[in-house]
Amino acid sequence: MKRFLILAALLLSVIPVRAQEGYVPSAANLAAREQFAADRFGIFIHWGLYAQPGRGEWVMQTQNIDYREYARLAGSFYPSKFDARAWVKAIKAGGARYITITSRHHDGFSLFRSAASSYNAADGTPFGRDILAELAEACREEGIRLHFYYSHVDWGRTDYWPRGRTGLGTGRPDGQAGDWQHYQAFMLAQLTELLTQYGPVGAIWFDGVWDHDAQPREAQPGIWGLYDQYALIHRLQPGCLIGNNHHLNPFPGEDIQIFERDVPGENTAGYSGESGISRLPLETCQTMNRSWGYNITDRDYKSADELIRYLARTAAKGANLLLNIGPRPDGTLPDEALERLAEMGKWLEINGESIYGTQAGDIAEQPWGVSTRKGNVLYLHLLDPSVLPASGRLTVELPAGARSPKLREAVLLDGGSPVPFRQEKGTVTLTIPPFSGADRVVALRFR
Ligand code: GLC
Repeated sequence: MKRFLILAALLLSVIPVRAQEGYVPSAANLAAREQFAADRFGIFIHWGLYAQPGRGEWVMQTQNIDYREYARLAGSFYPSKFDARAWVKAIKAGGARYITITSRHHDGFSLFRSAASSYNAADGTPFGRDILAELAEACREEGIRLHFYYSHVDWGRTDYWPRGRTGLGTGRPDGQAGDWQHYQAFMLAQLTELLTQYGPVGAIWFDGVWDHDAQPREAQPGIWGLYDQYALIHRLQPGCLIGNNHHLNPFPGEDIQIFERDVPGENTAGYSGESGISRLPLETCQTMNRSWGYNITDRDYKSADELIRYLARTAAKGANLLLNIGPRPDGTLPDEALERLAEMGKWLEINGESIYGTQAGDIAEQPWGVSTRKGNVLYLHLLDPSVLPASGRLTVELPAGARSPKLREAVLLDGGSPVPFRQEKGTVTLTIPPFSGADRVVALRFR
C-alpha cells in the first residue's frame, strides 16, 4: 500500500496535467498507426478469474456475486496448462499479427504483477505467475505485437465512486464512501506499470465509459480523467496507440476508433448508433461464439468460413478485425477456437495479400461480395457463389477516376490461374470458374 501511495504521488507530480485537446500525434505514433492498419487481424483474449465459473466475463454482474466472495476465485486460480508460447504460436499460425489481452477487466482482477493492488495473478493466486510478462516474452520471440485491454470500470473497488449503471449488486457500498481521486491514482499507477514493464505496447484498449452513459458525451473525459491517462500513455510510450470502446465518436488523444460487434457503418448489435466513422485507423471486435470470457455452455460458434468472410468484410471497410478467444480455466484455448484459427491461417496464407496492408475497396458491398485495394491492385472477394450465374459471368462496375485505368490481368489468388475478362468503359466482365469455400479472391491488376 505504501509503495502504491509513493508511486501515485510520484506520478501525480510528473504527469503534465495538459489536456489532449490540441493533441498532435508524434511521428512514432503516426508510424504505429500505419503499422496497426496494415496488420488488419488481431486476436482478442478475455481471460481472468471469470473463466472458472465459465459463464462469461460479466458473471459477477449477471449473478450479483458479492465482490468479497468472488475474490475467493483468486485462491483457485491455477491454470496448470497455461503456455504463453503455445497461445502465441497458434495465434500466429492463424494469421493474426497482434494480441489484445484483458490486463484487468470489470471484475478488478489483474493478470499482471502490480504494486498498486495485490489482487493479481502473480501476487494474489497460488499460480503466482505474471501472465502478461510470459505473454510479452512469447510475443517478442514470435514477432507478434501486444496490446492491453484495460477496464475503467471496477465492480469490486469501493473507491470507484460515483458508481455507474452496472455492478450494483456486487456489494460495493452505496453512498459517498468512494474516492475517485484515489481510484484515478490507482489506474494511473497500473497504466504506468503496463507501459514500463512489458516492452513496447502496441495499444491500450479502454473499456467501460458506457457505465456512465447517463451523463452526456462531453462530460465523459472529465468523469473518467481520460486526458490525464492519455497524456501519461503518450508520454511513456509515444508509439502506443489509444483506443476506447466508449461507443461514441473519438475524443482527442485517441489514435484508433473501435467498433463493437459490427463492421464500421453497421449497427446490428446496437453499440454503434452514436458513432460515425472517423479518419483514425478502425478496428472491429467480434466474438467467435457469443461470449467474450470463457462460457462453458456456449457452443454457438461461427464457422471458419463465416469468420473469414467477416474478416474480408471488415477489411473492405478499411478496418481491422479483433477476433476474440476466451481461454479455459486450465489455461488452454478452446478446441473450437483453435480449429477456426487454423482454418483462417490456411486461408490467409494463400489470400493474405488481399487483407494485410490493404485499404477499403472502392466498390461498395455487392451481392457477390466486397473489395479491398492495395496500390493498383483491386481485390474482389467473392463471398457467395450462389449469386453467380451458371456461366460464371460477373460484371463489376469499376470505380470512376484515374485509379482504374487499363486492366493488365485478372488472376485467382488461390492457384494463380488467370480469369478471362473483358474490359469496357466503366466495367469489367469476368468469367469466374466454379468455386466453393469462404472467399474466392480475384486480383485485378491494373497498369
Ligand atoms: C463490452 C463488454 C466487455 C467486453 C467488451 C469487448 O464492453 O462489456 O465485457 O470486454 O465489450 O468489446
